[in-house]
Order: sequence, then C-alpha cells, then structure tokens
Amino acid sequence: MEIHTDIRLGDCKEVLKELPDHSVDLIFTSPPYADQRKKTYGGIHPTKYVDWFLPISEQLLRVLKPTGSFVLNIKERVVNGERSTYVLELILEMRKQGWLWTEEYIWHKKNCYPGKWPNRFRDAWERLLHFTKNKKFNMYQEEVMVPMGDWAKSRLKNLSDTDKIRDESKVGSGFGKNISNWIGRDKAYPTNVLHLATECTNKNHSAAFPEGLPEWFIKLFTKPGDTVLDPFMGSGTTNFVAQRLSRNSIGIEIKQAYYDMVKSQIEERKHVLFEPKEKYEASKINGRN
Ligand SMILES: C[S@@+](CC[C@H](N)C(=O)[O-])C[C@H]1O[C@@H](n2cnc3c(N)ncnc32)[C@H](O)[C@@H]1O
Repeated sequence: MEIHTDIRLGDCKEVLKELPDHSVDLIFTSPPYADQRKKTYGGIHPTKYVDWFLPISEQLLRVLKPTGSFVLNIKERVVNGERSTYVLELILEMRKQGWLWTEEYIWHKKNCYPGKWPNRFRDAWERLLHFTKNKKFNMYQEEVMVPMGDWAKSRLKNLSDTDKIRDESKVGSGFGKNISNWIGRDKAYPTNVLHLATECTNKNHSAAFPEGLPEWFIKLFTKPGDTVLDPFMGSGTTNFVAQRLSRNSIGIEIKQAYYDMVKSQIEERKHVLFEPKEKYEASKINGRN
C-alpha cells in the first residue's frame, strides 16, 4: 500500500481551505495554548482564543468525513490563581458550530516534575477532547485492547458469592454478572485515561507530545490507508506515527523551520514502516504495568 505524507507550510486557517470536503478520517492535534510559550511560537491571549480558533474548527468540520473524529489535545492554564475558562467556552461554541462533544479522554503525564504551589498540586494531566459530526462514527475498539493484568489474578478469581449466584441463577443483569463475563479472557477494553510519560527525547520542538498519544487514537479511529490530519504539525509527531502505521497524513505548520525539518525527515523515516508493531504495544500506552 502506497502511503502519502503531505506537508504544507502556512497558517492552517488558510491552508485548510485547499483541502476537499469530507476527505479526512481523523484530525489529531495540539494547538498553541493560550499565551503559553510566547517566545517560541506565539501565543493567543486567553480572551481571544475562542474567536481565533472557531474559523479553524469551521474548516476542520468541513474537511472531516461524516464518520470521522477530531481529537483536540489542550489544557487551560492558570491565570491570577484561577483556571482560564477558554477551553470550556470553546467546547460550547464548537457545539453551536455543529460539532458533537462525544467524549473527553485524559492524558495522565506519568513523569510530571515535582513542585509546590500554595493553592494547588502539580498538574499531571491534559485534556483530549473528542469531537465528532455524528453519533455513529468509525471506532476500532479491538485495536487498543489491553492485557487483563491484575484483574484476572485478583478480582476475577475472587468473585463474591453474590457475583456467582447472580450469574448462575440468571437473576438480574447488574454489575456482578458483567464481571463474571470477563473470566477466561486475557484482554479488556481500556479506560478513557491514558497513562503516558512526557518524552524529553524530542529535542526538536518545545511542545512535542509523545508518539504514544497519536498512536493510540490513530489505531482507535482509523484503519490502514485512511487519512490523518494535524493542522498544528510542530515537529511532525502525528505524521510520522501515521506513516509508520500505514495511514496517509497531512500536516500544516506556520513556522518555516519546523516545516523544513519535518519535510527533510519524511524520506528517512519511511523505513520505520517495516519495524514490528510490537515495539509500540498498547500495554505501554494504557497500563500502569
Ligand atoms: C503545540 S505545537 C504542536 C507540537 C506537535 N504536536 C509535536 O509533537 O511536535 C503547535 C504548533 O502549531 C504551530 N502553529 C501555530 N499557529 C499555527 C497556525 N495558525 N497554523 C499552523 N501552525 C500553527 C506552531 O508553530 C507549533 O509548532
């Protein structure tokens, strides 16, 4: 299968207009956060964030297939001792634009650095807002199943009498029955919390996310040959993972230096396609083991 990685330079608000309607299966991205890292790639003031983002999400809504998903990695910062509300406002406005706010996944940053604040604890998680155009969308849940792990050894081997009686006597269809259904299976569906370390190994971008993040969502919402879009490409993490997983991808980046860097790496990274998948197994991504 021939896979295309299409990298474009420019402001995604404009470049997105070049893409056809209903042509993308998954949009996975981490935009600049309000006012953060201003020196590196510009920031948008929290009060202007929603107005800045809506014309972009309008284009994203147009290019996404009816069966597609949009996963937005974002986290509001603290300003004057209070959490900003722009992400919450953005969700409400995007719903008015036609998006369904289908789910919220959490990225738990396993290795977040220690610190002390007078009024809060260290921030160890980010949002992954899942938007869709319809209630029915493509989702390949079996692709991200996790080993049953300790459950099989402890909870499932020690089912209470009630659990068993309920199941055997077919009385009720509550929690007990559901638990015993999982006996003998070695894989379970994951939760909506991803336990993943931030990676300090990507020295090419100050805000790169770990490969495991796009990998999990690409497996969950696309099949080989589908198309993944990252409108805020940065160092190209989404595109390189898509390429490795035999998905076509489009990346848009406003900074020439990042664009050039990704462009020059596409060819050399192509060989990674043939590495065994096991190297990036799901247990690493979604388990505490
Ligand atoms: C949070 S970073 C993305 C990092 C990326 N996920 C990675 O792993 O490297 C956001 C990126 O969006 C780019 N950017 C900011 N505004 C943009 C715009 N209007 N259009 C396209 N890219 C933009 C920034 O230059 C930056 O590289």
